[in-house]
Amino acid sequence: MITTKDLTKVYRSRGREITALDGVDLHVREGEVYGVLGRSGAGKSTLIRCVNLLERPTAGTVIVDGRELTALAGRGPRAGGELRRARTRIGMVFQHFNLLSSRTVQDNVELPLEILGLSGRERARKALDLLDLVGLADKARVHPAQLSGGQKQRVGIARALAGDPKVLLSDEATSALDPETTRSVLQLLRDLNRQLGLTILLITHEMDVVKAVCDSAALMRGGRITEAGTVPELLATPGSELARELFPVGGQASGDDRTVVDITFHGETATQPVISRLARTYTIDIAVLGAAMDTVAGRQVGRMRIELPGPFEENVVPIGYLREQGLGIEVVQAPGAPGAEGTDGRDAAPALTQGGGR
Ligand SMILES: Nc1ncnc2c1ncn2[C@@H]1O[C@H](COP(=O)(O)OP(=O)(O)OP(=O)(O)O)[C@@H](O)[C@H]1O
Ligand SMILES: [Mg+2]
Repeated sequence: MITTKDLTKVYRSRGREITALDGVDLHVREGEVYGVLGRSGAGKSTLIRCVNLLERPTAGTVIVDGRELTALAGRGPRAGGELRRARTRIGMVFQHFNLLSSRTVQDNVELPLEILGLSGRERARKALDLLDLVGLADKARVHPAQLSGGQKQRVGIARALAGDPKVLLSDEATSALDPETTRSVLQLLRDLNRQLGLTILLITHEMDVVKAVCDSAALMRGGRITEAGTVPELLATPGSELARELFPVGGQASGDDRTVVDITFHGETATQPVISRLARTYTIDIAVLGAAMDTVAGRQVGRMRIELPGPFEENVVPIGYLREQGLGIEVVQAPGAPGAEGTDGRDAAPALTQGGGR
């Protein structure tokens, strides 16, 4: 539904060049909720602004719903008619809502419909339908100042849906909201995704958001996508930074002569007593150093860090057994393993930790 090829954006300011996007290939499938994560300055907002061509990419292509937007004429807000029309099919939700305080809630939602040239009666009907959809049917006549943050964002979402978009872009739509309100707004996005078949590309700093609503996710760093895939795929990828962030499992080995393994469970394997079977089959003592279990997109997934006694060579067979069970296996400490000296994921810097994040 959204494809970017080799998308590049270079900003020139005061004689300096800043490469905000450095060859981004993004692929968002129809009907999915896709999360983009990354540190401040990674290029997330630039990416989203290039997807709807609010920002003109320096190079590369953007295809949304089968149309190559980068081939349509016009620049920025003064875009040509064709690009403007294509853009009405792409809704955008902002962190700070961007509602007009002088207008009522209903009039805010009607704004894009005015631009589309609908009659007063059509606008009103559509706006009231949309407010009903986001659970604000009774707030049509009030002004934004009389609403809570969560309600304001619901108005922002209703407005974004006015042009019957196939795609919704959201740049940190929930980061100004408290955790409970965040959850309810995310639930709304998830419901809209399901009910309307809406494809959603969202930027967030919060791993909770990815866990709660995303089907797929990508990690950005320095203007590039460094990891991408469906959430189950990422969880099953050894060494995945996103997986480690989604399910941080701590725990230090009790000695240097122990083998430490991170296991990712998902789907059916999440409910099987793999660890006790492993202990019985090989009569070894297994210590669980850390574990996290959660539900991601309705599926149980989890990670566990276990410690096996002895060096790596003594544990090759048990580790092979775990792999055979369809589990994601990452060896984080392997004393004595050839070429694996110092292999240790424990000290890896968290990719996304940001000041003020929860
Ligand atoms: N209009 C602009 N002019 C010059 N440089 C810009 C402009 N917009 C963004 N940049 C630069 O491009 C890089 C990427 O910025 P961007 O806003 O996309 O990051 P981000 O991942 O959204 O960060 P945050 O999490 O803080 O919102 C940064 O180095 C930023 O300073
Ligand atoms: Mg940003």
